[in-house]
Amino acid sequence: MTKADILLGLQWGDEGKGKIVDVLTKSYDVIARFQGGPNAGHTLEFDGIKHVLHTIPSGIFHQGAMNVVGNGVVIDPIIFCKEMDQLLAINDSCGDRLWISRKAHLILPTHRLLDAASEAAKGKMKIGSTLKGIGPTYMDKTGRNGLRVGDAELPDYMERYQALKNKHLKLLAGYDFEPPFDLDENETLWLAAVERLIGMQIADSDVMIQEAIKTGKRILAEGAQGTLLDIDFGTYPFVTSSTTTAAGACTGLGLAPNRIGEVYGIFKAYCTRVGSGPFPTELNNETGQFLRDKGHEYGSTTGRPRRCGWLDMPALKYAVDINGVTQLMMMKADVMSGMDEISICTSYKYQGKQVTHLPYGLDADLVEPNYLTMPGWSEDLTSESKHSNLPLALKDYIAFIEAETGVPVVLVSVGPDREQTLWKEATS
Ligand code: GDP
Ligand code: IMO
Ligand code: MG
Repeated sequence: MTKADILLGLQWGDEGKGKIVDVLTKSYDVIARFQGGPNAGHTLEFDGIKHVLHTIPSGIFHQGAMNVVGNGVVIDPIIFCKEMDQLLAINDSCGDRLWISRKAHLILPTHRLLDAASEAAKGKMKIGSTLKGIGPTYMDKTGRNGLRVGDAELPDYMERYQALKNKHLKLLAGYDFEPPFDLDENETLWLAAVERLIGMQIADSDVMIQEAIKTGKRILAEGAQGTLLDIDFGTYPFVTSSTTTAAGACTGLGLAPNRIGEVYGIFKAYCTRVGSGPFPTELNNETGQFLRDKGHEYGSTTGRPRRCGWLDMPALKYAVDINGVTQLMMMKADVMSGMDEISICTSYKYQGKQVTHLPYGLDADLVEPNYLTMPGWSEDLTSESKHSNLPLALKDYIAFIEAETGVPVVLVSVGPDREQTLWKEATS
C-alpha cells in the first residue's frame, strides 16, 4: 500500500499549482484533481509555450502518468471538450491517459444562468464568481438534485436532465437579470458535448484510486482554488463552493485520511486575490501595481486583474495547520526582485486587541495588519539555477517563514517555466 500526496494552494488561488504539478508529475503514476471545476485556471509552461488547464489535471503532458478527474470535480462538458481539443492538437494520445469519474457532477447551462442571476441579485455583495456555474452545481449536489456523469449513461438520462432544467427555469423566473447567452443554442452544444464526454474513459474513479493505492502506485492529488476560498475555512461568504483544503482530497477522490502522505502547500511570496472579499494586506498603491505588472497578475480563467498585497503570516500559518502541510513551496520569488523593502503581516489588531491568529472577521473596519519590514533584494532571479545562490535577503525571508510555520520551504520558483524551479539542496 502507498500513500497519496496532496498539492494545494494556501492563499486565494492562483499560487502556481499547475506549474508544480507538472514539475512533480515525473515522480508519480497518477495525478488526480479532487474538486473545483472550470473556475480553475492552472498554467504551466515548457519549451516556450504556455498551457492553461481548467478541468483536466496538470499531469496530462507527461506520457507516463494516468490523469483522473475525481468525483469531487464539477464538469462543464462544453469547456471540457474544448480543453480536450486543444490538448489533442498538441498530442493525440492524451485522451488515453485521462479518466473521468462517473460520480462527478455536471454543470448544466442553466447552472451558469443561475450563477449569473444570483451574482446580479447580490449587487454590491457579489462574490465575484467566475460565472462558470460552480455554486449552483454544488448546491444541487448537496441538495441531492444534481446530474452526474454516470447519469448520462443511463436510459432515463434525458428525463433527469429535463427535470433539473425545469426546476432551474422556475428558479430563474424569480430573478430580474440579463441572461448572458442564449439557452437553446447553448443546450444543443451542451447535449452534444455530453455525448462526446461519455465516449471518453468514464471510470469508477474511487475504485481506481483504491486499486492504485493497493498496487503501490504513487498518487498526487491536485487541488484547485486555495485554502482561503474553502467553503468552511475561507473568507466566507467570499469563497468558492467546495472543500479546497486537504480534507477535500478525501471526499473528492475517495481517499481515506490515513492514506494521505505528504501535503505540499503552495504559496506566492506575496498575496493575490481575484474577485470580491476581504484582503487585509492588499496594496491599493504603486507597490500593488508593481506586483501586478511584474507578476502578470491577471486571472487565467477570466482575465480580471488580481488584487495584490503583502504576505499574510497569520493566514499562511492557519492554512498550514488546516491542511497539515508537510512541505512548503514558494512561488514567484522573482517578482519581488527590485523592492527596497518588503513587509510581512505578522499579527493583527482585531477589534482593539492584538492577535496572532487569523481573526473571524477580516473586513477593514475590524482588522488592522501589523507589519514587520525586511530588506528586499534586487537580483534578477529568473535565470538562477541553484537554490544556494539565492540572495541573502530572500534566504532570510524564507527562514522567517519557516520559523513561523515550522515547515520547510523545499522549493523556490523563479519564473513560470518548468525549468525555473529551484529545489533546496540537501545539507550534509
Ligand atoms: P494556479 O491556478 O495555482 O495553477 O496558478 P495560475 O496558473 O492561475 O497562476 C499562476 C501564474 O503565475 C501563471 O501565469 C504562471 O505561469 C505564473 N507563475 C508560476 N510560477 C511562477 C514564478 O515562480 N514566477 C513567475 N514570474 N510566474 C510564475
Ligand atoms: P485556481 O484553481 C483564483 C474565486 C473567484 C471568486 C470566488 C468564487 O486557478 O487557483 P466561483 O466561480 O468558484 O463561484 O468563484 O472564487 N476563484 C478563484 N480565484 N483562482 C481560482 O482557481 C479560483 N476559482 C474561483 O474569483 O472570487
Ligand atoms: Mg489559477
